[in-house]
Amino acid sequence: MDKIIVKGPARLSGEVEISPAKNAYLPILAAILLTDKKVTLTNLPKLRDINTMLKLLEMMGVECNRDGKNVTFDASSLSSHEATYELVKTMRASIFVLGPLLSRLGKAKVSLPGGCAIGTRPIDIHLDNLEKMNVKIEMKNGFVFAETDHLTGALVKLKFPSVGATENLMMAGVFADGQTIIENAAMEPEIDDLANFLNSLGAKVSGIGTSRLVIDGVKELNGGTYQAIGDRIEAATYIIGGLMTKSEMTVKNFNPKHLFNVLENLQGMGAKLEIGDNYVKTYPSSLKGSKVITEPFPGFPTDVQAQMVALLTVVEGNSLVTENIFENRFMHVPELTRLGASIEQLGSSVFIEGGRPLTAAPVMCTDLRASAALVLAALCAYGETKIDRVYHLQRGYEDLPEKLQKLGAHVELVNE
Ligand code: UD1
Repeated sequence: MDKIIVKGPARLSGEVEISPAKNAYLPILAAILLTDKKVTLTNLPKLRDINTMLKLLEMMGVECNRDGKNVTFDASSLSSHEATYELVKTMRASIFVLGPLLSRLGKAKVSLPGGCAIGTRPIDIHLDNLEKMNVKIEMKNGFVFAETDHLTGALVKLKFPSVGATENLMMAGVFADGQTIIENAAMEPEIDDLANFLNSLGAKVSGIGTSRLVIDGVKELNGGTYQAIGDRIEAATYIIGGLMTKSEMTVKNFNPKHLFNVLENLQGMGAKLEIGDNYVKTYPSSLKGSKVITEPFPGFPTDVQAQMVALLTVVEGNSLVTENIFENRFMHVPELTRLGASIEQLGSSVFIEGGRPLTAAPVMCTDLRASAALVLAALCAYGETKIDRVYHLQRGYEDLPEKLQKLGAHVELVNE
């Protein structure tokens, strides 16, 4: 099984290029199902989740022609409306195919994703609002069976701005009769990217970047070529890594505006950052503790919480971090404690006593972002840290060992 070995402490330098965002490409890949014309997506990151989505599309009869990291899709031969348990259980984002399948074929059979390590993660917001768009939904034998004679536009108000539900409903609205209005929509940049992609094919989505999305149904979509935005979560991970190791390094190929809240928080802690149009440069800084609360965009992203906790263990002073999005997203805490961090969990918050020196220990990844937090802590820890179960990391961080090696860290991927 793959493991990562990190020899710390590290000092990083140079530049790291951020990959296109996994969380933007996953719904965009599902949206491929909407058109029978050819679409090319460029620079698709080599990630497990992206591969899973490609497998799902191929199982449904979509032709995927790979030319390096560019893939041309032809969904004109879409033949299956089923997303199997085997694939959905490995990646919850498979639920994104629900909206597009209903649009294109009028029916979908998608395995229920179930819970995952970070929380129960229900899909009621997706399903309740699809029902308002003239979809009949039945749950049987662990599957969602959804059917419609035609999708109709509707005014839907989300009880919580769910990222996935906003994306699914947006895709369902593309061919719906009339207008679909999504109120209390999530506003994450990846949602804007999906809307921009759909519009590039001829869809009519407006209100992009706001919590009220309007989708005017169209009759057909064209083909096209598209590249997703840079991965703001990957970027945040490297920026935090630069600050934890007191390094001068540049993180480039993403839009820092997508990380406004994180950067503001870091600067409030004393981080010296140079913020450009498509890069952030870190400088060695003396940091103090902070108070962090995760919230839907534009608030502090839950996907950066674990990395921030890792940072707060090594800065001077105390910190409080509250997780408001997922109910069980502190699995990195016991692992960081093994490295010498002082963290106490109180319900949905953790209290961190900063400034403790970290020392190497064997640790285990529990989920994607928790894994990133462990790598960051290992970069600061004295000695050789062995990180197990890195398949979690490989779901969402392209070439992480190589990127860190290029920055000068002693990081190695081993199979043992
Ligand atoms: C997406 C991201 C994930 C990120 C999360 C929150 C992708 C592929 N994944 O996940 O990395 O952590 O946004 O920013 O883009 N909920 C319900 N009912 C629903 C849907 C969601 O109760 O029908 C709850 C969830 O259990 C969770 C919260 O809402 O507690 C946020 O979930 P949601 O915004 O839907 O996240 P995802 O789309 O699953």
